[in-house]
Amino acid sequence: MTEPADPTLARFYGADTLPELEAMRVAMLGKSGEITAQLKSLGPMTPEQRAIEGPKIHAQREAVTAAIAERKAELEAAELDARLATERLDLSLPSRETPRGSIHPVSQVMDELAEIFADLGFAVAEGPEIEDDWHNFTALNIPETHPARAMHDTFYLAGEHERPMVLRTHTSPVQIRTMMASKPPIRLIAPGRVYRSDSDATHTPMFHQIEGLVIDKGITMGHLKWTLETFLKTFFERNDIVLRLRPSYFPFTEPSAEVDVGWSMEKGRRVVGGSEGWMEVLGSGMVHPRVIAACGLDPDEWQGFAFGTGVDRLAMLKYGMNDLRAFFDGDLRWMKHYGFLSLDVPTLSGGIGA
Ligand code: PHE
Repeated sequence: MTEPADPTLARFYGADTLPELEAMRVAMLGKSGEITAQLKSLGPMTPEQRAIEGPKIHAQREAVTAAIAERKAELEAAELDARLATERLDLSLPSRETPRGSIHPVSQVMDELAEIFADLGFAVAEGPEIEDDWHNFTALNIPETHPARAMHDTFYLAGEHERPMVLRTHTSPVQIRTMMASKPPIRLIAPGRVYRSDSDATHTPMFHQIEGLVIDKGITMGHLKWTLETFLKTFFERNDIVLRLRPSYFPFTEPSAEVDVGWSMEKGRRVVGGSEGWMEVLGSGMVHPRVIAACGLDPDEWQGFAFGTGVDRLAMLKYGMNDLRAFFDGDLRWMKHYGFLSLDVPTLSGGIGA
């Protein structure tokens, strides 16, 4: 824009900011501004004088108004340019991560397990964490003399109750509750919290188990082994999972087997798969006829298998954590490191992400 020759008008183009220009506008056109005063001076003039001065003053006012408007548009445009230059939106930047909560590894693994077993036709069942000793022990054929019943292993509730109340020591009482409440065939898993009076790097007083139960006709250990093999292969996402069933003892299964999974060394780390060594992952067996009878079913007609495993332990093996206590410390740094955002782990339950 070329500045006008008229020095009065040229002044406006010297304004470098909008407030400066506004001050000039007020000085000229405001209530006591220069041009306003000139307009007022028309009043006392003779008509002849006014006819000469009037058009001059009006023309000057128009010129001033136009010059101010023009300079204002220039300054506004410059201001916008400056803002656009500094407030640039870089669409190539990754979006800023909004702080969000993350899924605890235990919840993640429980979801994965529910998903795997849902595909095998298992429903999810639940039971109370405060149990009575009949469901937790007696109905499961756990004799009075069994060490699990001792005060130093189990949390008993104080006070008078019809039956002694305990914080359940395993998820197996859910077997009893389901067999008593529904008719076979039964296929269930029961994930949940369990409690034992134990505390060190690999034991916490509260931890998580998942129970499995199948009751039907003609169920054999072959079904048990296939189910566990399928579950562990899917969970660890490896085809080279090798199982070893070791004869064992649980009062509520007969025969009983402890199940070990083979591990091997990969890049200096012990991983599940292969068979360089073994680690125990679950307890299992054929449901004891006495347990079936305690639930009011005929053990000659119905058989089944059951298994129980530690959810926290499965999480540690799959995701490489080494201290169980950290699971329950509530340390946000640990959660940030090991926790999952809703879509960031490609698993069966999570899908491969969006
Ligand atoms: N309840 C057993 C435990 O806590 C595990 C188990 C469940 C064993 C079902 C056999 C069958 O150790």
